[in-house]
Amino acid sequence: MKNVIILGAGGNIAKHVIDILVKDDDINLTLFLRDARRLRNNDVSKSSIVEGDVLNFDQLKEAIAGQDFVYANLSGELEAMAKNIVKAMDETGVKKLIFISSIGIYDVPLRPVLKPYRKAADVIEASELDYTILRPTWFTNADEVDYETTRKGEPEKGSVISQKSLATLITKIIESPEKYIRENLGVNKPNS
Ligand SMILES: NC(=O)c1ccc[n+]([C@@H]2O[C@H](COP(=O)([O-])OP(=O)(O)OC[C@H]3O[C@@H](n4cnc5c(N)ncnc54)[C@H](OP(=O)(O)O)[C@@H]3O)[C@@H](O)[C@H]2O)c1
Repeated sequence: MKNVIILGAGGNIAKHVIDILVKDDDINLTLFLRDARRLRNNDVSKSSIVEGDVLNFDQLKEAIAGQDFVYANLSGELEAMAKNIVKAMDETGVKKLIFISSIGIYDVPLRPVLKPYRKAADVIEASELDYTILRPTWFTNADEVDYETTRKGEPEKGSVISQKSLATLITKIIESPEKYIRENLGVNKPNS
């Protein structure tokens, strides 16, 4: 069994990821969110639900202890959140992290709205963790799985990505974590 915690489990992409992971009997899922009423999945009966705030270090550390994999699907004060996550993972010996950032964080000049996304990525890259940072293009609700990735330093491609595609990539990383260690990937729909 692999223990996986989703931080920000009530978020849009998290909803799709949860729908996929609850079907995997090898995964023991913990859903961490500020208000459990915001969970939008039909069936989370086999998951543990923890109410907590990522900005509250003690709550976060307690939830992360014993996990094999942390998937952060967050918005807001991302730099402070990333610092808490790295510290909590370091102190509990948890190594594997997926963190959703955004397209455009290495653009010069950097758009002000993207500064927290860039700072969070910088914090994670400076850590010793086995992280995968994802930089998706703009989300669509298209019912399709069609994506490609670009590596850090390569020009980002495309303009959109379906939420279902991003969720599929995230579950693949969780299922084969050895393939994506210390990667920082742009994600887009090909030819979009
Ligand atoms: N929309 C796009 O086209 C696009 C493109 C590229 C990247 N992104 C980024 O990709 C990420 C994931 O997207 P999404 O649509 O899934 O995001 P989302 O629906 O906004 O989910 C983010 C989650 O973060 C949670 N959160 C915020 N502060 C928290 C805290 N202190 N403690 C615990 N949870 C907290 C929120 O929970 P509450 O319900 O408690 O507020 C929310 O459920 C976001 O950062 C988004 O900005 C979006």
